[in-house]
Amino acid sequence: MSTLTRPIIRDAVEADADGLSGVLTALVAAGKRTKPADSAFALTHYICDPERIQCSLAVAPDGQILGFQSLKLATRNNPYGVAVGWGIIGTHIKPSAARCGIGRALFKRSLQAARQQGLPAIDATIGANNFDGLGYYEAMGFREYRQMDGAICKVFRMGTGVTNP
Ligand SMILES: CC(C)(COP(=O)(O)OP(=O)(O)OC[C@H]1O[C@@H](n2cnc3c(N)ncnc32)[C@H](O)[C@@H]1OP(=O)(O)O)[C@@H](O)C(=O)NCCC(=O)NCCS
Repeated sequence: MSTLTRPIIRDAVEADADGLSGVLTALVAAGKRTKPADSAFALTHYICDPERIQCSLAVAPDGQILGFQSLKLATRNNPYGVAVGWGIIGTHIKPSAARCGIGRALFKRSLQAARQQGLPAIDATIGANNFDGLGYYEAMGFREYRQMDGAICKVFRMGTGVTNP
């Protein structure tokens, strides 16, 4: 990506709900997502989630939101059964913008937030057949630590993973 076309990475705000929904909708259309993709879901589940540590997005120079990454705190009864106090990460990049380094740039920012928060580890729960997701998180330094319900859970242990993805 040239400097001119490189997206800006910043915090997601409420006004970005439609843009995040656009990313999720594109993933549904590409057969890469089955969960909700509407703006209300983006708002409650990512932008305004009470467990949010950080939700970062990538914006193209033309204002189009290309992708985002959510980092949340695992609290009691979290839906993934992740250890309380760990981070829970999710990454969503428009298929048209995949493999351009956006996921890597977003994780660099999330990792800073995880360090500031003092998280011991970050969980990524990925569909067992999602080879894009599995490859991406492996490249970011996550390693498999358990399996559940058709999913593979990878962990990034702070201080032991790739420190400069
Ligand atoms: C998986 C996903 C997050 C990757 O994001 P991305 O912006 O395309 O990733 P990057 O371009 O920053 O890639 C960083 C590295 O991850 C690895 N990687 C990324 N996509 C990969 C793929 N499809 N297969 C194997 N490795 C991959 C590579 O090592 C890559 O580095 P390289 O391009 O220099 O070889 C993105 O494709 C996506 O949103 N997919 C749909 C939703 C999803 O699966 N989310 C994650 C699981 S819940």
